[in-house]
Amino acid sequence: MPKLTDKSIVITGATGGIGAAIARALAADGAAITVADLSQEAADNLAGEIAAAGGKAIGVAVDVRERAQVRAMLDKAADAFGRVDVLFNNAGIAQTRPFLDITEEDWRLVTDVNALGVLIGMQEAVKTFRQQGGGGKIINTASIAAKQGYEPLAHYCASKFAVVAMTQAAARAFGKEGITANCFCPGVVATPMWDVIDKGFRDNKLTTKENEAFDTFAATAVLGRASQPADLVGVARYLASSDSDFMTGQSLMVDGGMVFI
Ligand SMILES: NC(=O)c1ccc[n+]([C@@H]2O[C@H](COP(=O)([O-])OP(=O)(O)OC[C@H]3O[C@@H](n4cnc5c(N)ncnc54)[C@H](O)[C@@H]3O)[C@@H](O)[C@H]2O)c1
Repeated sequence: MPKLTDKSIVITGATGGIGAAIARALAADGAAITVADLSQEAADNLAGEIAAAGGKAIGVAVDVRERAQVRAMLDKAADAFGRVDVLFNNAGIAQTRPFLDITEEDWRLVTDVNALGVLIGMQEAVKTFRQQGGGGKIINTASIAAKQGYEPLAHYCASKFAVVAMTQAAARAFGKEGITANCFCPGVVATPMWDVIDKGFRDNKLTTKENEAFDTFAATAVLGRASQPADLVGVARYLASSDSDFMTGQSLMVDGGMVFI
């Protein structure tokens, strides 16, 4: 088991499906978790649950599109736990739109959260890592949509391709300082995000039944089932731990075998 005892780990989108599973698991491993999400109340609730189970956590409200809020999130984590060792840029949104219907407003909404939010998170984390004397890990949640363009999710896919590009660029920019940047790519995970995507398929008359889009996409995984948030815990633990110290700039597919690269 990789050692995470007393590592200070900040997770954005931490009250959502994947983020909460990672937050709970890494807290149980001994890490001190900053649970960051849009809602202070939801963040406090999960931090309280972790503390009640014997772990260390604080809740912080953040909109990842807002640099001042991201800066404050990292400063609160450093104040509470002495430093920041790892930032998971995990917050994200999805939207189902047929290709010809994507508006400028749709594009800006999705790319502001999923791509600009990751850029700001990485920039501010590097400042924190430098203040601490160097070293640090950035872990971004990308997607199978970072490797394949799926209709009708073109703008979502573009935002996730951007995550891979920025991960590679940051790895090259900061490697000599001992700062690594990697991402993991989930497939079709049963979380509230897929409820939104599935409803979007129905609203756009691309499917007729609830979970039809979810089941159709999930059926392409060679391991024969959809992902659960718990399926992403192992890769998150590995990337947060010193076991991954000599890896940077990589995108790890953890999708049950949907996309082979
Ligand atoms: N569910 C999937 O199938 C799947 C597949 C591949 C990648 N992903 C990615 O995994 C990550 C987590 O998604 P999830 O499936 O857990 O979805 P989710 O909707 O359960 O969680 C997403 C979380 O991000 C938060 N968030 C949204 N906008 C934010 C903002 N501006 N600032 C701060 N937080 C914000 C939400 O409040 C929510 O808690 C996302 O980046 C998503 O794109 C999900």
